[in-house]
Amino acid sequence: MTKNYLDAATEIALEAGKILREEFDRPPSISYKGEADLVTQADKRSERCIVERLTRYFPDHGIVAEEGTGHDTASEFRWFVDPLDGTTNFAHGYPCFSVSMGLAQGDTLIAGVVYNPYYNELFAAARGHGATLNGKPLRVSKVDKLAASLLCTGFPAHKRVASPNIHYYWDFTLRSHGVRRDGSAALDLAGVAAGRFDVFWEFGLNKWDVAAGVLLVEEAGGKITDFADKPYQLGGPMILASNGLVHEETRQVAYEVSQRDPSAPLRR
Ligand code: IPD
Ligand code: CA
Ligand code: CA
Repeated sequence: MTKNYLDAATEIALEAGKILREEFDRPPSISYKGEADLVTQADKRSERCIVERLTRYFPDHGIVAEEGTGHDTASEFRWFVDPLDGTTNFAHGYPCFSVSMGLAQGDTLIAGVVYNPYYNELFAAARGHGATLNGKPLRVSKVDKLAASLLCTGFPAHKRVASPNIHYYWDFTLRSHGVRRDGSAALDLAGVAAGRFDVFWEFGLNKWDVAAGVLLVEEAGGKITDFADKPYQLGGPMILASNGLVHEETRQVAYEVSQRDPSAPLRR
């Protein structure tokens, strides 16, 4: 049953990806949802395509989509849709963006797809069936020390001054091989599932940013919690995803940074 959902999500993500690819070759039509929060015609076209198809295939499922055209229903099934994750990259011609679609049954994620149409990379997972990249099985990395890890994170487009993340960025940069800030949380999580990154953390992400990526990491053998080692709740205030082996070491650093005064200067 789950497999059918995944097939549908795959088909729809590929279709939405075609729209993004087409729009990427045109000058972007940007408008602003906030000071640095961009939205383009591509976000809207992609969402229209996804919501229209999901509604056709699964008329009684709820759809929570970033640009607000979904319809949440009383169904136990709910899709979390980010029609274009990485809008800022997209608008600047930086080819790191994706379509992200995750399906939950009650509180359990059961299917998820993240598609990067520029590199034609399709990450997919179904609960209990593993995770794949273009059909090949995915596994998290085997790195077992933070000092030998490559990490990734992101910064919010809203309330930027209030974000404490620069403190975590600083600490983790000094304690690892480095930290990347690639601009698509869905691809960041897919990167952990694929063993390209060993760790991803971020604050304040929405359910549509992470639903698919969380399942990818879990199905690829990784681990996801908050900084206090509690299970991650979809849409929770912070997320820490890793290959599992470096999780505790990383979490302890994150927890230690969280205990500091965020207005204090960066320090070694
Ligand atoms: C953003 C990206 C980015 C993350 C931001 C998100 P959007 O989503 O996932 O990596 O750092 O917090 O808002 O706006 O491009 O869909
Ligand atoms: Ca997003
Ligand atoms: Ca988006």
